[in-house]
Amino acid sequence: MTTSQQPRAQWLGRWGFLLAATGSAVGLGNIWKFPYITGEFGGGAFVLVYLACIFAVGVPVMMTEIALGRRGRGSPVDAIRRVVKESGRGSAWSLVGWMAMLCGFMVLSFYVVVAGWSFSYVWKMLTGGLGGSSVDDMVAVFSANNQSPLNLGFWSTLVTVATMCIVGKGVQKGIEKSVGWMMPGLVLMLLLLIIYGAFSGGFGDAVTFLFAFDASSLSSAGMLAALGHAFFTLSLASGAILTYGSYLPKSASIGRTAIGVAIADTVVALMAGLAIFPAIFANGMDPGEGPGLIFMSLPLAFQSMPMGTLFGVLFFVMLSMAALTSSISMVEATLSWLCDNKGLSRPQAAWSAGIVLWLVSTLAMLSFNVGADWTIGGKNFFDWLDYLTSRFLMPLGGLGMVVLAGFVLKSETFREELALSPTLYAVWLFMVRYVSPLGIVVIFVDALGLYQV
Ligand code: PHE
Ligand code: NA
Repeated sequence: MTTSQQPRAQWLGRWGFLLAATGSAVGLGNIWKFPYITGEFGGGAFVLVYLACIFAVGVPVMMTEIALGRRGRGSPVDAIRRVVKESGRGSAWSLVGWMAMLCGFMVLSFYVVVAGWSFSYVWKMLTGGLGGSSVDDMVAVFSANNQSPLNLGFWSTLVTVATMCIVGKGVQKGIEKSVGWMMPGLVLMLLLLIIYGAFSGGFGDAVTFLFAFDASSLSSAGMLAALGHAFFTLSLASGAILTYGSYLPKSASIGRTAIGVAIADTVVALMAGLAIFPAIFANGMDPGEGPGLIFMSLPLAFQSMPMGTLFGVLFFVMLSMAALTSSISMVEATLSWLCDNKGLSRPQAAWSAGIVLWLVSTLAMLSFNVGADWTIGGKNFFDWLDYLTSRFLMPLGGLGMVVLAGFVLKSETFREELALSPTLYAVWLFMVRYVSPLGIVVIFVDALGLYQV
């Protein structure tokens, strides 16, 4: 049914896809979420399971998604429908695409709230709004920022508008152009922050916490969280990578790109941990503090350090840019679908998606003030969006992708797209057929407690 009259857009520059995909992967997941869930699930053993998930499940899934996107040249729904048809299989498989598109949108709805915290902290840092001398003072600043729906809503709305302004301009003039300066800027700021952090002491406890293996701290809930986070942090099963892949020229190597993105993402997460935990332990804080972790301990640590305000501003500017290069990738699947199927222009698609996003994200934002008590099963709306996407939609969507690749589609599809040597192709196939699906199923069944039945 799809009628895309114009040829599909492609990345202009040689580094277009790599920059955009790394921009998508590196985000709040690395700097905000990874440290706090590592804290919650007890450190080293969690990190080990997480790394195993990244390389045994994440990389094969990412290669699959890029290949599906490039082969099908469309949004997840359209691309998967075309590729499945090419192999003569039933159209019900496009459900995997619908799930991914929905998942990207749900993630974005809570992501803009956290990105809004980051933007507001740039402002606070600049205007001296982060004064205080104790952990309690910082907790007070953080909750005051959340208290007013108008204040918090202003910041999440700002992120929504910024995201839509970029994607509305299109793949080359919007996404590619913005990541072209934001990604180099981000790397530079991160390097400066790490050099700065290395001179401020307190490294030992953090290293022990992140890398000391204590099997007894590992729970099945922790394993599901590690699996879910591996998907989240690599932007998988959410339409982002697949849709970016649909703009990839035929000549690019999918395997090399996927491994590059995974390594960059992992390095940034570990560096974020090494930058944040020393400050936590030095201030006698609890590493299991939860979502507010980097917004409370870090500003306090910066205050007691030379040139702390400058580096504090740098940190939150860096975090905000990391968030923006991710948020633009989360709507791209929806935008591409709207443009190809509903005949909308890029700006029209951006603003229609933006309005819906604004409504849902406002509900998520209210979870921190007036809607704090609107809970089901102890979770508010914000928590549910996070929980459903990273613990269920992503692992299940990923399972759908690897089953498609390993068992449903014709093998030529991936032989041609991946263009690997016979040995590497065999490794990839073994991963998507056995290792990734089994890993996902075992962790799932374990976490749901079905073994006990
Ligand atoms: N990978 C991003 C991060 O780590 C989050 C993300 C999820 C981006 C899904 C796109 C799609 O912050
Ligand atoms: Na990430």
